[in-house]
Amino acid sequence: MSDTGKSRNKDNKGKRLYLHTFGCQMNKADSLRLSEIFQAEGYSFTKKLEEADVIIYNTCSVRHHAENKAMSYVGRLKSIKDEKPEVVICVVGCMAQRLKGEIIRRLPLVDYVIGPSSMFDLPDLIKKEKSGVFADSSDKRKEFPDVEFSSINIDSPFSGYVPIMKGCNNFCAYCIVPYVRGREEYRTRKDIINECKVLAGRGIKEVMLLGQTVNSHPHFKDILKETAAISGIERVRFVTSYPGDMDKETVDIVAGITELCDNFHIPVQSGSDRILKEMGRKYSTSHFNDIALYIRKKLPLASISTDFIVGFPGEKEEDFKKTLELVKKIEFDQSFTFKYSPREGTRSEKLEDDVPREIKKERLAELNKLCGKMSLKRNMLFEGEALEVFAEDKNTGRSSNYKIVHWYGPAAKMGEKVKIKINKALAHSLKGKRIT
Ligand code: SAH
Ligand code: SF4
Ligand code: F3S
Repeated sequence: MSDTGKSRNKDNKGKRLYLHTFGCQMNKADSLRLSEIFQAEGYSFTKKLEEADVIIYNTCSVRHHAENKAMSYVGRLKSIKDEKPEVVICVVGCMAQRLKGEIIRRLPLVDYVIGPSSMFDLPDLIKKEKSGVFADSSDKRKEFPDVEFSSINIDSPFSGYVPIMKGCNNFCAYCIVPYVRGREEYRTRKDIINECKVLAGRGIKEVMLLGQTVNSHPHFKDILKETAAISGIERVRFVTSYPGDMDKETVDIVAGITELCDNFHIPVQSGSDRILKEMGRKYSTSHFNDIALYIRKKLPLASISTDFIVGFPGEKEEDFKKTLELVKKIEFDQSFTFKYSPREGTRSEKLEDDVPREIKKERLAELNKLCGKMSLKRNMLFEGEALEVFAEDKNTGRSSNYKIVHWYGPAAKMGEKVKIKINKALAHSLKGKRIT
């Protein structure tokens, strides 16, 4: 996969790694880095659990459901561990950081529990320590791993993830992220641009700049411009933009530079100012609308995606109605919707989870229905248009505004740039004919 220049560790020759990732793009980026580190250590990959010598689950804590799922996946390894006790089972990432030793108490088959900040030491730990819990949040030995381990999206060799920051300082009332990922730390401009250049040198055409609030990076705008100027980089994406740190100048920069993708992920969470305040989100709906409508005016075909939480403590019918109104006003291209899930240790955990389950379910269904309609309405704008698409598979790819495009006609090679004349819009994808 890469030429890291590290000598391969002969002891590990023939050893196989199974790695499964839950959660957000930060976790995916960490997993890619982890894969490179293990590969440099002589490991190869397997998709079959029974063949693995090391099994890693990289986990997420953002909602109760995410943790439950990871726990049940790990629990299912029992027969494998019984049959092959030497297999090394590791739980890493955000849930490892949150639950620490609790994971081994609940699932004794687990050998290592490792939080995000110690994760890249895993191969060393396996050599030196028999087992254990390594989730000390004060451990900052690996700030950002060497550029040499530039993570490359192995499923899509033309596209790479580049974390530009880690952690989060916002402490939204419901959110576990600041507790498991720590305070914000920014990577230097030089380091980020260097890594993008390394990726470009390896044939990467698209980079995704990553962070929980990318636009709180003090040099965010310069990073956008400088990344877009690197020769070989044709597309630059960035997620996630925190609405409170979003401004019109960023929109102008995206509008003025072809390489910057016309896709904005700005999670609004709620259309009610009262609820936003309770959530500790540091912006108003009028600021959000102002930015979103500016994007619509300046870049009519740009996509705007968002996240919503329904059923936050104290959410009344009138608050929810405001969320529906906001959706109708902005017409989001894509929406990710979640039922409120109380997280231990966060501020809102102390508030009464007073929206009944049935109501949460009904609100979610109603919101999903409306968001689906909006996505379809936005996608219909592209019927009859020709879109430039980077192939991610033989007959599927993404446009610069992040729409999934399927086509008939000649298949493409991964990463190939093709032009597709769209003739049918669906709520979550576009269909068309390949014209070049
Ligand atoms: N940093 C991003 C969000 C990261 S978490 C931002 O601030 O916009 C991704 C999404 O998960 C959030 O936008 C939110 O919609 C959802 N989420 C986070 N905590 C949650 C909780 N306790 N219950 C339900 N959804 C939650
Ligand atoms: Fe969580 Fe808020 Fe930070 Fe996003 S901005 S990661 S929701 S605390
Ligand atoms: Fe989940 Fe951790 Fe990302 S909690 S959303 S994997 S930062």
